[in-house]
Amino acid sequence: MKSLVTFLIFFLVKTNAYVANSIQLDLTTETPNDFNENSEESTVHDKYEKDYSGYVYMDDVVFGLKLQNWTDEELPCLNETLHLIKSLHNFTTWAVWEWDSVSSQPLGILSGNRYQLGNFDQCMTYPWSTPHKEIKTQYCLAEVELETKTHVKKKTLDEIEPYGNALDLIQHNTPHFRPLRYLTWGACVPACCEPRSVEKLVKVVLARSHLGSAGLRLSIHVNETCQRPDEPKKFDVVLYAFISIYKNGDAVDETSKNSYNPLRVMRNGRCVNVETVDDERTLLYK
Ligand SMILES: *[C@@H]1O[C@H](CO)[C@@H](O)[C@H](O)[C@H]1NC(C)=O
Ligand SMILES: *[C@@H]1O[C@H](CO)[C@@H](O)[C@H](O)[C@H]1NC(C)=O
Ligand SMILES: *[C@@H]1O[C@H](CO)[C@@H](O)[C@H](O)[C@H]1NC(C)=O
Ligand SMILES: *[C@@H]1O[C@H](CO)[C@@H](O)[C@H](O)[C@H]1NC(C)=O
Repeated sequence: MKSLVTFLIFFLVKTNAYVANSIQLDLTTETPNDFNENSEESTVHDKYEKDYSGYVYMDDVVFGLKLQNWTDEELPCLNETLHLIKSLHNFTTWAVWEWDSVSSQPLGILSGNRYQLGNFDQCMTYPWSTPHKEIKTQYCLAEVELETKTHVKKKTLDEIEPYGNALDLIQHNTPHFRPLRYLTWGACVPACCEPRSVEKLVKVVLARSHLGSAGLRLSIHVNETCQRPDEPKKFDVVLYAFISIYKNGDAVDETSKNSYNPLRVMRNGRCVNVETVDDERTLLYK
């Protein structure tokens, strides 16, 4: 029986590896996290002939992040995300690796691409994972629904024309064509971000893609627990129930291990605990 369980676990892990990928939120900007200012920076920039053309987008993402309603418990996630963006700003390898593992622009939505998964393996595995355990990411799947703020009359495919509003096409619904308004988005985010924070991060990035225009509202849910490199793949409830019959409750421990626990993550992850929440907020928003 043990080998059957092992086989199932192996099978699921394999299956999952193919599914995944990710999104990453990192953008860079001069302003947001000044707490790492370093006088060597300008020398490094000169050496690599910095190109400033990407900054407007990065600044806008940071601006969008700060507009979100972050609770005190979510501040470490915001900090890590701003740190990631800042590091992307001078093209630091770990940050580029993380950001590069996911997409920041959805592709092929109108022709039916639902899954925008990025590269799961890149998000979960990095060449420096052994010496640098402080760099921690997680891969999350976000379910996105594109909603319209105003009512749009549904049209048949024949009625869709090139000079009309693309919302007509996104809203279009026939039995033979899957609804275009649902997306599954892979996100590669700092390990300390809980699902509701991941929803905010995904929202800020997606709102700055071409989907952010024309009155689309993004409804985003991260339903499943995210996966981290140092944790065994969580299995679905049915399989857990099955395994627990043979493993006498180990499965229950496994499940709780994977659920979000802010204190644990803040101790072991890169999310740093600070003296008081007020200090942290002041630093982040300065
Ligand atoms: C921010 O979130 C908290 C907790 O979810 C909520 O109580 C508060 O009303 C929210 N504030 C705003 C301005 O949305
Ligand atoms: C990026 O900037 C930080 C300081 O903000 C510095 O510590 C780091 O060495 C720089 N990295 C690269 C690759 O330039
Ligand atoms: C995710 O959760 C939301 C809200 O609970 C629900 O409406 C949605 O159907 C769920 N999506 C999936 C794929 O489970
Ligand atoms: C934010 O994260 C950086 C890098 O992980 C850390 O050095 C810093 O102490 C954190 N700052 C706050 C205010 O939490």
